[in-house]
Amino acid sequence: MKIAIDGPAAAGKTTLARRLAEELGYLFVPTGAMYRAAALAKKRGIPPDRARIEVREGGRIILEGEDVTDLLSSPDLDELSSQVAVDGRVRRHLVALQRQIARGRDVVMEGRDIGTVVLPDAELKLFLWADPEERARRRLAERGGDYEEILAAIRRRDERDSTREDSPLRPAPDAVILDTTKLSPDQVLAEALRLVEERLAKLDR
Ligand code: DC
Repeated sequence: MKIAIDGPAAAGKTTLARRLAEELGYLFVPTGAMYRAAALAKKRGIPPDRARIEVREGGRIILEGEDVTDLLSSPDLDELSSQVAVDGRVRRHLVALQRQIARGRDVVMEGRDIGTVVLPDAELKLFLWADPEERARRRLAERGGDYEEILAAIRRRDERDSTREDSPLRPAPDAVILDTTKLSPDQVLAEALRLVEERLAKLDR
């Protein structure tokens, strides 16, 4: 089974996808981290549409043979990755990699265009939503910083990610929309697991 999790910045996609993959024994594929690695490649003078990016167990990201996972969660890469992701050549490169990773495997893949473009046949599609203010509060708790700046950066990314021409952020028509504004990570996981069970029961029939 393939599970697609999409949604805006800081909605809790990575947390949910990682925990869901652990519970189910599926491969966890954080595609946001792949765009972040492409942005890091660009910073290092490597063409982002040709960078060698691999995803390993537990969502570790390898760029040109180096494990760069721990370098990817910085505010400058929040912004740069969103900019690099507008480039159609970068998208084609990463989408091809993402499809190759998912071929013949059980995966939980998170991003912006997984249900719409990368894995349109995914058996379960979730679209995670939370109010921008709540997402900014979560980012602040996670990384510290200035609330107003974080909120402005989230709004800027939401705008760019949803209005770009190539594969904009939007829910697939068959996605289940989960508003997590008032839910804890445990509650979101429980609801996702319930939906997985429901889908698996249907597939068995
Ligand atoms: O989920 P994230 O914040 O790590 O993603 C970083 C940026 O990468 C995000 O602003 C938009 C882009 N992205 C994308 O365009 N498509 C994806 N499938 C995943 C991320």
